[in-house]
Amino acid sequence: MASYLLLGKEMQEKPTINLGLEGVYFSESRIAMIDGINGRLYYCGYSIASLAENSTYEETCYLILHGRLPTSEELEKFSAMMKSFRDLPDGIIRLIKEMARNTVPMDTLRTAISALPAYQSNKYENPEEENFAESVNIISKSASIIAAIERFRNGQDYIKPNASLGHAANFLYMLKGSPPDEKHSKILDVMMILHAEHGSNASTFTSIAAASTLSDLYSAITAGISALKGPLHGGADEAALRMLYAIGKPENTAKYIDDALSGKKRIMGFGHRIYKTYDPRARIIKKYLEELENDANGEVRKLAKIEMEAEKIMIDKLGKQKGIWPNVDFFSGPVYISLGISKEIFTPLFAASRSVGWCAHVIEYWKNNRLIRPLDYYTGSIDLEYLPISERR
Ligand code: CMC
Repeated sequence: MASYLLLGKEMQEKPTINLGLEGVYFSESRIAMIDGINGRLYYCGYSIASLAENSTYEETCYLILHGRLPTSEELEKFSAMMKSFRDLPDGIIRLIKEMARNTVPMDTLRTAISALPAYQSNKYENPEEENFAESVNIISKSASIIAAIERFRNGQDYIKPNASLGHAANFLYMLKGSPPDEKHSKILDVMMILHAEHGSNASTFTSIAAASTLSDLYSAITAGISALKGPLHGGADEAALRMLYAIGKPENTAKYIDDALSGKKRIMGFGHRIYKTYDPRARIIKKYLEELENDANGEVRKLAKIEMEAEKIMIDKLGKQKGIWPNVDFFSGPVYISLGISKEIFTPLFAASRSVGWCAHVIEYWKNNRLIRPLDYYTGSIDLEYLPISERR
């Protein structure tokens, strides 16, 4: 019989194991409140719908980092600080250029973020000031890094930031090199707000776990990017769009879903560990998609039709029965496509938007830091006899 040692005492009884840490609370937080039963999400007390409608990404970043909305003077100062951090050092530009042609954008983003400390010369008065400045540096530069990745991937040159534009509009400008459409900038700004924070999900927890060893912010965010990449988490936005292309046309949707479900495959952009109802972010994105449909090109209209069909079928089959509803990643793809953003940078953009949530959680956790060190239940053998290699069979 397998046994294991815990704190020097032999235990025979198997402890309760929460696979995937499901249902486990590991800390207190004042940043996001997620109500998975009623489909509600709040950042520092403000509903996601009110922020999407009234706020800007910069203001939402301030809220998440400080726990309160800024005055106009504070917002002006914060926005100026974000702008001052936008431009990329030459070394980072060279690194991106070197990697972008042969590496997936998420890997280049991860590497570029981890290289940023090499170019940080500022000295700060105290750790609080340093953590704050590093957060703004990461939030601000991550968008510039993605724009640079996309340009180099397409054989184009780096475009310097434009200080007259807000964060989302400047990203579109650095991506395309032309003044961005106002409506597109507004939609991207809302997408960034919607992705800015979401409690202790896999990537945020990974950032916190790295930070709990008293590692540094850049390392923690690099860890967060690594966790976000997978298709069960942030990578689902690109995977969902690839699925729409695989379905091809609306009339193929029912068969595609039937085949996938009978083969025990996941429908990307559906389901959530916390939400057992409609994800409130997906509701907002769907509304923008419906608005965009009117002026979008044929491709977006077709993708949107497939989505509406898939949504209906999935809610019918699995919504009420299993609590599987559209999540934030389902409707995002066609919205990004209509803004001229290619699928390869969907997940990096998610990471750039989420970087504020990661930084805020790490800084919050450090205020009451405790090394994260859960247990696994050992099911192997002990006291095996070590045989020299020549005697092994
Ligand atoms: N399509 C089909 N079946 C599903 C799906 C789906 N997308 N999601 C869950 N299920 C089924 C699953 O097969 C299981 O069925 P059964 O009980 O018969 O074995 C049941 O629902 C419970 O699934 P689970 O894996 O225990 O649930 P979870 O809480 O671990 O999964 C999830 C959460 C997000 C990993 C999962 O819903 C999934 O794989 N979704 C597709 C990927 C996706 O869209 N991810 C983005 C999540 S939202 C953005 C973010 O936070 O990053």
